[in-house]
Amino acid sequence: MIGVFDSGYGGLTVLKEFVRQLPGYDYCYLGDNARTPYGTRSFETVYRYTLECVQHLFGQGCKLVILACNTASAKALRNIQQRDLPEMSPDGRVLGVIRPSVEIVGTYTQTGHVGILGTVGTVQSMSYPIEIAKLNPHIRVFQEACPMWVSLVESNEHQQAGADYFVRQHINRLLQQSAAIDTIILACTHYPLLLDKIRQYTPERICIITQGHVVSQSLCDYLHRHPEIEQTLGKTGKRIFQTTDSPEIFDRFASPFFGASIQSAKVTLR
Ligand code: DGL
Repeated sequence: MIGVFDSGYGGLTVLKEFVRQLPGYDYCYLGDNARTPYGTRSFETVYRYTLECVQHLFGQGCKLVILACNTASAKALRNIQQRDLPEMSPDGRVLGVIRPSVEIVGTYTQTGHVGILGTVGTVQSMSYPIEIAKLNPHIRVFQEACPMWVSLVESNEHQQAGADYFVRQHINRLLQQSAAIDTIILACTHYPLLLDKIRQYTPERICIITQGHVVSQSLCDYLHRHPEIEQTLGKTGKRIFQTTDSPEIFDRFASPFFGASIQSAKVTLR
């Protein structure tokens, strides 16, 4: 299976695109809803939680795990790839969402001023400015952390009028940093659920990049380039949903934004 991991519901915005673009594969989604949000937690805690979830997914038979979470990609991916994977699953692979987003941003921006909206953890890690500078040294990166946004989504308050205050506040703060920003990356997989409100408070000339289709396209390319991994993946169209919290709540909240009904199971991580 292809394992897809997030701290909660956000990774479903990525899985939805995987299923649309690569429907034939088997997927196992794990949301660590019991411990969400990750974005305000320390490096060590995000690393430990993410490692436990990745170990669990390999234990379920996944050969490839996508960290569909920017915070986990920023704080845990490199350690897991370099330190843990060789022992945990030498033939397995773990990929994140930051690199695919960084690779395409240069094709969107004309002004070279790019905005990043992400969790406190993602912003403080400086992963986006560092990675963008490697590929596009001429691009200037402006960041804004939006600590409330994941909580709004996880508590299913993202469509309520109260969410507008927090959305407007952070977009204004980002745009105050540079009037020339013409491209914004929603660098948190929960944020597409706020897209209508984000669009409402963002000038129309600014391009907003959501990660689902970007990461999905990158996965297509990866599977073409790595037949040795592609051949190990099940292709029966199986979808498994797991959560570390209540499956009843997960199914009720997650089904509408996954776009299909979900029946999840509760898992306990070792
Ligand atoms: N979806 C996660 C991300 O992309 C949210 C992190 C959190 O739990 O705060 O960063």
